[in-house]
Amino acid sequence: MIISPEIIDDIKFKNPIEDVISSYVNLKRAGSNYNGLCPFHSEKTPSFTVFPSTQSFYCFGCGAGGDAITFVMRTENLDYLSALRVLASRCGVTIPENDVLTTGKKEVGRQRILEMNKEAAKFFHNCLLDEKLGAPGRKYLMNERKLSMAVINHFGLGYAPNNFFMLHDHLKKLGYTDDEMVVGFLCGKNDRGIYDYYRNRVIFPIIDIVGNVIAFGGRVLDDSKPKYLNTSDTPAFKKSKNLFALNFAKNHCEKQLVLCEGYMDVIALHAAGIENAVATLGTAITPEQARIFSRYTKKVIISYDSDEAGQRAADKAFKLLQEVGVDVKILKMKDAKDPDEYIKKFGASSFRSVIDDSKSKFEFECEKILTKYNILNTDEKVKAGHEICIAIASYPSEIEREIYCQKMSKVLDIPKESIKRDVLSIIKRRSREAKRNEETELYRKSSGIGDRVNPSSAEFLKANKIEEAILGLMQLYPSHLKLAIEKMKTEDFVTPLCKKIFKKIKECYEKTGKFDIAFIEENFNVDEISRITKMMAERQRLATNGEDVLLELISSLSKEKEISKDEDTVDSILDAIKKKKK
Ligand code: GTP
Ligand code: MN
Repeated sequence: MIISPEIIDDIKFKNPIEDVISSYVNLKRAGSNYNGLCPFHSEKTPSFTVFPSTQSFYCFGCGAGGDAITFVMRTENLDYLSALRVLASRCGVTIPENDVLTTGKKEVGRQRILEMNKEAAKFFHNCLLDEKLGAPGRKYLMNERKLSMAVINHFGLGYAPNNFFMLHDHLKKLGYTDDEMVVGFLCGKNDRGIYDYYRNRVIFPIIDIVGNVIAFGGRVLDDSKPKYLNTSDTPAFKKSKNLFALNFAKNHCEKQLVLCEGYMDVIALHAAGIENAVATLGTAITPEQARIFSRYTKKVIISYDSDEAGQRAADKAFKLLQEVGVDVKILKMKDAKDPDEYIKKFGASSFRSVIDDSKSKFEFECEKILTKYNILNTDEKVKAGHEICIAIASYPSEIEREIYCQKMSKVLDIPKESIKRDVLSIIKRRSREAKRNEETELYRKSSGIGDRVNPSSAEFLKANKIEEAILGLMQLYPSHLKLAIEKMKTEDFVTPLCKKIFKKIKECYEKTGKFDIAFIEENFNVDEISRITKMMAERQRLATNGEDVLLELISSLSKEKEISKDEDTVDSILDAIKKKKK
């Protein structure tokens, strides 16, 4: 165990889960629990539940679950130890440093890489400032890209000299090992040895909201390829979960955030005083990044490159951002390929008015459809009308649909009522389809098919249900915990995951005399933690949780173990699904 159970206990006691979560989610009381809209997937009816009695949360929609610590891990994208630190500082507890020294490997890795990155960032920055060494980098950033020294310092930009070993030798002197440099994606290794990744490139450090240097982007000084070299995922960095310049933009985002494609666009915007600009990190926007936006702002202006690739990417970003419930607008630039170029050509105030003119999704979609078809031609007008109805049907608000139907009736010169009827029939068809999909999905889930968290559950369907029920009851009541530990051995469980869970719960009980998921959390990944919480949450919904039920479950598990392989095989489930579809 990384940190003594007493301290974890103290931190959890002083951070009631309902308090912690209510600063992220609007919670409503429902009996002894609380409900709200899940922060981990998009939904319109609340299936996210907080259980004060067990101090845990579980979403019956997407299956995310855990305790206050895992909640912070998930929402703030932190590892176990950092999440614990966040909660500790929230309630004024200090974690004694010597407690952390005995840390497991994972945390040391992350912390070390962050320290090493900070050193590397300093190194790159100093190289840029160095009279001789940094001349090519300064020439590029200042003469060609027209950045001031103030902006360079603000973003901590740097330069990696044209040399294979300088960063390596520097970090080695500071005590970092080759392995750490390779894992941290600063160096590569081949049969001839270790070498610096970033050479003769200007460097953009990527900094998280608490000021850690988590990664780097490095750009070539000419037209050679690859244009950018970005850090791959490391123990300290997931590119799908971070945004460039959010560390600055987070202080200017109440009204809106501007989403750009490139680092240089963001830097140009900030330099021009538009400090609410951010960019994804060399990839298309991911659902996780979309959720980051929804936590920081109400409105996002997508400001992608004006070429076709940029516009296609904008379309995808639109969908993802819309799903997380932020107001999305798309910005359209004329006579410039990206915001950086636009500001250079026309100035910041002109760009501000382009931001103000950005279009809503509907205007944008219609414009696209109407430029695709010539509506003076009857056939094409039919097609355009149909596509427009599909677009209108995707708006959940009736008022919005009404307004759009009216608008389009004028544009296409078709009675509003006809458009409305078509839109309604599309909506009905879609909801029928959605319902069918949901049913199949539910059935698939409840049959354990495609269960990535516990792959062997499909093989032992019944037995797995029983063992999960036992593990759920053990979490729910201390008396059940004690009884199950007395009566059962690890080998009585069937699937490897449940065996491991029981083993860890038992070890925890023997050490501390009780169970708290926080004590075993470091042994499982977030999906496994969710599963463990699910077992509890599913039992909590039932009224039959007495000791007799537990004893019955224990005895039927041992019977089921014998026969489980014969029945309920995956094949028979697939057959059942086929029959159901017919
Ligand atoms: P400039 O040409 O310097 O203005 O670049 P930019 O910032 O405008 O970038 P661009 O629009 O060409 O690309 C957008 C983003 O995609 C960049 O900021 C990078 O994050 C990423 N990107 C571009 N080229 C590459 C590449 O060759 N490799 C990787 N991994 N990412 C790239
Ligand atoms: Mn550019």
